[in-house]
Amino acid sequence: MDKIVIVMPTYNEAENIGRMIDELFEKEFPQIADAEMHLLVVDDQSPDGTGKIVEEKKAKYSNLHLLSKEKEGLGWAYVKGMRYAIGELSADVVMEMDADFQHPPRFVKDMVRAYQQGADYVIGSRYIPGGSVPKEWALSRKAVSFFGNLFIRVVLLKPSIHDLTTGFRLAKVEGVLDKIELEKLMELTRFAYKVDLLYQSVKNAKKVVEVPLEFAPRMKEKSKFNPKEMVSTFKVAIILGIKDKQRFIKFGTVGFLGFVVNFVFLRVFRGLGLTETLSWLFSTELAIINNYTLNNIWTFKEARIAGIGKTIAKFLQFNLTSAGALAIQSIFGPLGVGLVGTKYDYLVLAFVVVFMVLPYNYLMYNLVIWRTWKLPLLDKLLAKKQA
Ligand code: GDD
Ligand code: MN
Repeated sequence: MDKIVIVMPTYNEAENIGRMIDELFEKEFPQIADAEMHLLVVDDQSPDGTGKIVEEKKAKYSNLHLLSKEKEGLGWAYVKGMRYAIGELSADVVMEMDADFQHPPRFVKDMVRAYQQGADYVIGSRYIPGGSVPKEWALSRKAVSFFGNLFIRVVLLKPSIHDLTTGFRLAKVEGVLDKIELEKLMELTRFAYKVDLLYQSVKNAKKVVEVPLEFAPRMKEKSKFNPKEMVSTFKVAIILGIKDKQRFIKFGTVGFLGFVVNFVFLRVFRGLGLTETLSWLFSTELAIINNYTLNNIWTFKEARIAGIGKTIAKFLQFNLTSAGALAIQSIFGPLGVGLVGTKYDYLVLAFVVVFMVLPYNYLMYNLVIWRTWKLPLLDKLLAKKQA
């Protein structure tokens, strides 16, 4: 049976935490089958005595835990809580949840159900049908939340995810959380760490599911979110967005170097007296070796292929996809020249390379060679083929 630990950070939640604990343990957890539910409160020594309330409740609920630490901000509370959940409590699954009832406890079972049905990353989403933000929110607040999310969605190129800043999420430890260097997440003293954590989790996850969340208004005390938090959230999104494109820039650079290698060695081999065909063959192969090696150690270093067997297999695969690129050029090049005339052959070449060969190569590298993009459908197909 899976052990699911809800990590719940608190700072001055004395008014909420007692009732939250009772509601989870008495009303919600009993409704969840086939999972061992735990609650870990991470309290930053709240001056209002939140920790003491949790300490008292521990006598009543054996699956209740308290991690007391100094105040370091929200991100650190989660990181230390998750480390504790994984290391000390041997959690299979970790959830993020607020203590102030803005994440109504009744939604916990929906998240767990999505996990039990095969998702390894579940997002409590306010921006899908069935989800919502508080009616009480002023229009300006609604707009900031909505457009803020839209902005991050566009910057991160994550159109399939609708809520990127939600604080209500579930992640499987194996394969998702255990692949993330939690202590190195950006902006750990702030709320913005959430965007980085989501970004990394989605990258690792095999199946991401969004579950509707009716984000409730805050009951007691007031929110700790402020404009500074918002600015840092956008900052994280932009940095991650650029990092993502860095790969594309590196890919382009390597491609250009490959072109230079091809060009120079074509002349070198000709000069050595090789036949025209052999000169093309060898110089092209050198370019392919150049591209494979540089992409492997630079562009796709996070997914670097190592070991002799794997390298040989992948390099052969790489030659096949390169042959595909060659085929595209040899089909569409002459076709284009036929259309506009040899005078504009450089335009045809540029068009075919930029709009056909580059996208094709980038797709192949990400999907097939280094597999940094995951398409559930393709994964299934490949799995079937192997079986
Ligand atoms: N331990 C600890 N340390 N807990 C903290 C800290 C801290 O420094 N700061 C906040 N918390 C706890 C609060 O006690 C609460 O349980 C939870 O973190 C969320 O804090 P709120 O102050 O209620 O945040 P919010 O309601 O404005 O923001 C929520 O919604 C945002 C989206 O609109 C959070 O879920 C955000 O993560 C989310 O982005
Ligand atoms: Mn809140």
